[in-house]
Amino acid sequence: MDLKNAVALITGGSAGIGRSIAETLSAAGARVAITGRDQGRLAEAARSLGVFPIHADVSNEQDVERTYREVLEKFGDLDILVNNAGFGAFKNLVDFDRASFDAVFATNVTGAMLMARGAARIFITRNRGNIINISSTAGLRGGANGTAYYASKFALRGMTECWRAELRKYNVRVMLVNPSEVLTNFATVAGFAQKVNETKLRSEEIAHAVKAILEMDDRGFTPELSVFATNPTD
Ligand SMILES: NC(=O)c1ccc[n+]([C@@H]2O[C@H](COP(=O)([O-])OP(=O)(O)OC[C@H]3O[C@@H](n4cnc5c(N)ncnc54)[C@H](OP(=O)(O)O)[C@@H]3O)[C@@H](O)[C@H]2O)c1
Repeated sequence: MDLKNAVALITGGSAGIGRSIAETLSAAGARVAITGRDQGRLAEAARSLGVFPIHADVSNEQDVERTYREVLEKFGDLDILVNNAGFGAFKNLVDFDRASFDAVFATNVTGAMLMARGAARIFITRNRGNIINISSTAGLRGGANGTAYYASKFALRGMTECWRAELRKYNVRVMLVNPSEVLTNFATVAGFAQKVNETKLRSEEIAHAVKAILEMDDRGFTPELSVFATNPTD
C-alpha cells in the first residue's frame, strides 16, 4: 500500500513502540491518530509528532467506540489499525493475584478485540484495510512467570488467525509482529529492572518492520514477522 495520506490509528501511541510507529508512519506521509490513557503523555507525544491524540483506554468499550467516532470525524476514513497497547505483569503461578491477571487480559486481549472489531466494521464496508497486532516472542513459547503476559500474547496470536480467516475475503490484511526484548518503559511498568546496552532492540526497529510490511503491494501480505536483536548481550 501507499502510506501517503493513509489513515493509521495506533493504540498506545504515546510511548515506546507505538510512539515510534506513529513517528515512522507519519514521516511516510500517513495521517496518524494515537491513543493512550495518560493525558499528559498523550498530549506531549501528539504535539511533538504532529499527530492526532485520542484519550482512550482500549479496555473500555465506550472509549473504543468514541475512538472510532473521533477518527472518522477527523479523517473521514481508516486504512490501518495498529493494535499496540499492552503491558505485562510477571509473577509465579502460586503468587498470581486475580486482579493483575485480569488487568493484563483486559488490555492485551479484550482491548485488542474491541479495537479490531471497530476497525473490521469500517474495513468490511470499504472492502479494504490493515490490522497489525503487536504481539511478542512471548506469544511463541511459554516461560516462568509468564502466566498472564505470555498467555495474553498467545491469545492475540490466536485471534489474529481468526480475524484473518474472516476478513481476508474483504481484502483486509491481518498481520502479527512479534518483537523480542525492546528498550522501552515496558520493564518499568512491569516492575523489573532492564539492562540497557547497545546490542538491544530499540522501538525504531519494530517501527521499521511495521512500515515495511504495510508498504508491500496490497496483493500480498506478511502473516507474521518476528524481530530479534542480532547478537544481544545482557
Ligand atoms: N518492550 C518490549 O520488550 C516488548 C517486546 C515484545 C512486545 N512488546 C509489546 O509492544 C507493545 C508496546 O509496548 P512498549 O514496550 O512500547 O511499552 P510502553 O513503552 O510501556 O508503551 C505502552 C503504551 O501503551 C499505552 N497503553 C497501555 N495500556 C493501555 C490501554 N489500556 N489503553 C490505551 N493505551 C494503553 C501506554 O500509555 P498509557 O499507559 O498512558 O495508556 C503507552 O503509550 C505492547 O503490546 C507490548 O506487549 C513489547
